[in-house]
Amino acid sequence: MKDRRKFLKNAGSTALFASLGSSFFISCDDASDDASPNPPDNNVPEEGYSVDGNVYTIYLTHSSFSNLQSAGGWKRFDEGAMLLVNVGQNIIRAFSNACPHEGCKTSWSYSNEKFNCGCHGAIFDNSGNIITGPGGTGDLTSHNAVLKDNVLTVTK
Ligand code: FES
Repeated sequence: MKDRRKFLKNAGSTALFASLGSSFFISCDDASDDASPNPPDNNVPEEGYSVDGNVYTIYLTHSSFSNLQSAGGWKRFDEGAMLLVNVGQNIIRAFSNACPHEGCKTSWSYSNEKFNCGCHGAIFDNSGNIITGPGGTGDLTSHNAVLKDNVLTVTK
């Protein structure tokens, strides 16, 4: 009789452990389902770019820069004092946004692969070379720009 009681007591403990163990593992599985491993674009700053000294890291997946993913897309990036343009074949060029004539920074337009400074009409090709403009106007100052996996790194 004593052996039977001992058996039932041990059997009950085993059943209880098995039951808790099952719940425990289900809970662990549920917890891992809640965590989203490596969500895409998790490292993209809210502004779409970050700055470290003279190096700008620009994320083309961000809505502020997404038009640079296509050939002919361009952006006047005032926060970085640059003009950015996709010239095709996965190449993006970066220039200072200060016009070499008198330094206008915010009157730029871009069409037919040319930058136009609206202040006095200087026109530059998409390599930054002066095409026409007031006498003595030089080329745009260009910055090193490297594009890899939709991340543009510009070093000024
Ligand atoms: Fe750009 Fe004069 S400042 S053309």
